[in-house]
This record gives sequence, C-alpha cells and structure tokens, in this order.
Amino acid sequence: MQNARIVDMIEVTEAAALAAGRWMGKGKKDEADRAAVEAMRASLATLDISGTIVIGEGERDEAPMLYIGEKVGDGGEEIDIAVDPLEGTNLTAYGQPNSLAVLAFAPKGSLLHAPDTYMWKIATGPEAADSVHIDATPTENVRSVAKALKRSVEDIVVCILERDRHIDLIAEVREAGARIRLISDGDVFGAVATAIEGTGIHLYMGAGGAPEGVLAATAMRCIGGCFMGRFMFRNDDERRRAEEMSRCDIDGVLTMDCLVNTDESAFIATGVTDGEMLRGVKYFGSGARTHTVAMDCRTGTVRFVETVHRTGPEKFWVRMD
Ligand code: FBP
Repeated sequence: MQNARIVDMIEVTEAAALAAGRWMGKGKKDEADRAAVEAMRASLATLDISGTIVIGEGERDEAPMLYIGEKVGDGGEEIDIAVDPLEGTNLTAYGQPNSLAVLAFAPKGSLLHAPDTYMWKIATGPEAADSVHIDATPTENVRSVAKALKRSVEDIVVCILERDRHIDLIAEVREAGARIRLISDGDVFGAVATAIEGTGIHLYMGAGGAPEGVLAATAMRCIGGCFMGRFMFRNDDERRRAEEMSRCDIDGVLTMDCLVNTDESAFIATGVTDGEMLRGVKYFGSGARTHTVAMDCRTGTVRFVETVHRTGPEKFWVRMD
C-alpha cells in the first residue's frame, strides 16, 4: 500500500512547490503561502484516503484551508497527515535558500497533535543520535557530536535560527568553538539537514514552531537521526490547547516516540527554492522540474526524486542530470 501512497504524496508536495515557486522573490509571502496551500489541498482531495490534518495551517475557527482536524481525500484508508505547504514563506518571497513544501503521514493516531506554539528542539544525524540530549547544555551537546563524529569541535557546524531569543545559545556555541550556520527561517530544513551528508550541518538547536518540530521528527525517525523537543508555551491558552490535543506529558521531553509513535510513517519534502538538501523548482517554457526527498520509515527507503512536469504542448528533450 504505502509505496503507491508515497508516489501520490510526492505529487502533493510537488503541486504545492510548483504553485509556490512562481512567487519566488516577489516579496509576497502570503500569496506564496496561499498558492501552496490551495495546490496542496486540491491535490489531496483527489486521493483515495480518509485523511485528517493533524498539523496544518491553523485551527478551524480561523477558517484557514488545511486546518487542524480538516478531513481530506476522497475516501479510503484512515491516515493522519501533517502539512506545511510552504515551510519558509519569507525564504520564497525573498528568493532565499531552503524553502520547502512538506508533508508527513502515518496511521491514524500516531502523530502528535501539536498546537501552534513554540518548541525547543535538538536534532542530529544517525552517527551522533545517541550522544545528545535536550537537557544537556549546548556545550555538552556540541562536544558529544564532535566525539561521535570523531572530529574536533572546530569542525562541527551548528544550525540555529537567527532570533533574539537565541543570543545566549549562539554565544555559548561560539565559545565552545563550533561554527554556526545561522538561518533566517526554515528549521525543518535545519533539523533534517543534520542527517543528510553533504549539507555540512551536524547539529540543530533552538526554538522554532512546534508543528515544524513534528514534521522534522517524522523525517528523523525515518533516517535514524535524533530529534527531541520541549514545548515552550507563550500563554495559558496554548498550554490548554496542548493539553487537549496531546497524548504526551506536555511539560516533559518530547521524545521521538511521543512525536511520531510508529515506524509506518513517511516524510516528503519538495524544494521550492534552491538549497543544500534539495534544488528548487525550475520552470522552462513547456514544463518544470522539481526535486523531492521521500523518506519511508516502513521500508527504510530514502528516495531523491527529480520529476519533469510537462505542462505545455511543445515537445522537449528530457535531460539526465
Ligand atoms: P513560515 O513558513 O510560516 O514563514 O515559518 C518559518 C519558520 O522559520 C519555521 O521554520 C520556524 O519553525 C518558525 O518559522 C520560527 O518562528 P518565528 O519566526 O516566530 O521565530
């Protein structure tokens, strides 16, 4: 079942990326986001699934499309779906790297339902997965990753969102001797990149969106990396919603088992703008080219899929890369 589903879902993230990519550099993040959401929703509607959006564009009363709890699909197997149709809206709007169209799915009831709050996160790839902990200090974690990768701390690159709330974290990582890749947005990429050789990122730390945390955890579970989180509520309302939604201890460490309680999940991301992990959408006259990573936890496969979309009447050569 799942292999066919993976291809279906690749088409969903491709549709979102193809729509959002048209807005690259236009300075209009809301329009870019809307285009991705509409395309993703239309694509999901064609699938023979009974899907429930568990991580989405917001809560029902805000009336967004792909709201948390929205039912998608044309009927069939019941699955949970987590989406971020455009992860890094500003990255697309300003033509910066690593914006993605992202989706994860899993059997019903196995993905954490996280409200739109913040989460402190740590992620690293398979080799250092057992060496880090969210409760260890940044210095300890940087040293542990260096040891696990058999490198000096100076050779380690830590990815951190550039935010005022991270001033102390950045200072400590610098003091520890590691190098830093500051990103303006897009921490799904930041976390997942730690498990993809060649991105040059070894450790991700810091606070970002909780929904993005669940998506990143799905990927890390598939590729044997480590992801841990801790909710950071900004107010009582966020805490109350987490209590209602979540099956985990909302004040405790959000382990990978709590975030994604299955080995039947899958994570899929299509590049919108060019980045270290995925190439962005390329449009060329009669077609377009997309680049996607699809991680299937059940089969242990990670596919990098390049797709040529023939959209116009003209004939053209399909190039090998
Ligand atoms: P959008 O795609 O909604 O613009 O979010 C991008 C993002 O950078 C996430 O990757 C990250 O988790 C979150 O925003 C951080 O939130 P904030 O900008 O409030 O620090």
